[in-house]
Amino acid sequence: MASKKKIAFIGSGNVGATCAFLCFLGQLGDIVLYDIIDGLPQGKALDMFESGPVLGIDIEVKGTTNIADIAGADCCVVTSGSPRKPGMSRDDLLKINAAVMNNVGAAIKQHAPNSLVIVVTNPLDAMVTQVKRATGFPKHRVVGQAGVLDSARHRTFIADELKVAVESVNAMVLGGHGDDMVPVRSYTAVGGVPVERFIEAKRLDEIETRTRNGGGEVVNLMKTSSYYAAGAATYKMVDAFMHDRKAILPCAAYLEGEYGVKGLYAGVPVVIGAGGVERVIEIDLTPAEKDAFQKSVGHVRELVEAMDRVLAAQG
Ligand code: 2OP
Repeated sequence: MASKKKIAFIGSGNVGATCAFLCFLGQLGDIVLYDIIDGLPQGKALDMFESGPVLGIDIEVKGTTNIADIAGADCCVVTSGSPRKPGMSRDDLLKINAAVMNNVGAAIKQHAPNSLVIVVTNPLDAMVTQVKRATGFPKHRVVGQAGVLDSARHRTFIADELKVAVESVNAMVLGGHGDDMVPVRSYTAVGGVPVERFIEAKRLDEIETRTRNGGGEVVNLMKTSSYYAAGAATYKMVDAFMHDRKAILPCAAYLEGEYGVKGLYAGVPVVIGAGGVERVIEIDLTPAEKDAFQKSVGHVRELVEAMDRVLAAQG
């Protein structure tokens, strides 16, 4: 039986399509792949649909260049825009992608007015801000994916270092999705035991640096942005929403006083369930972590201001 739930992927490039396929495998809902490149979403959708008999999955998958086909979606995953190229900072993408977010936000507002919107496009913290503005949706229905990916990288590196199961490693990377993101050491644990019992501080510094540069490391290798891990991280959020899991995930959430931040998106632990971002969880950070978090948030503020200048200049 085809599910009545619907997930729209606005942008059907590597991240969007990878996430869509995971949602297909998880049978989270019928899938619409949208893109502006004619043939791409239709081809990927047909290809995915044709995997159904092999996998025993009866999910509908539609590819389209008509944005109106997202109509009635329960969840919209936004990956459209330009990906980061080698040597390009996330901030370089501001100019191109802010304009895209305006159009996408307006379309979601029109066609999927009750959806949860998960923004993945970079520079993430600015793009999710722009989508919130363009949709006019309340803060619990516009959220950014970054922390699940950044935390996954950190967990990968720690598990690999210690040769333990990735599942046994808990970690949270908070703040903005930039080079000054904050792997929170005081909440990083292996089998529930603080990570510092296993790895000495100097080595942890190196691992945290690798985590902060994790996106760039992949870009440098394959000359385009991460998509397996980024797609999986986004899937985790869609799954938490569609199944009302009340999962605690680090996500870019709109803060109104939490962590001392007002009127800005930043990566913090939140509860994702059927209500979207149901709650922001406030955790105690050490003074050094607090400083690092505020520094990272300061960079998000600068990024949003830079975006506003670009948008004002474009009229
Ligand atoms: C990443 O961290 C591209 O921002 C994305 O891989």
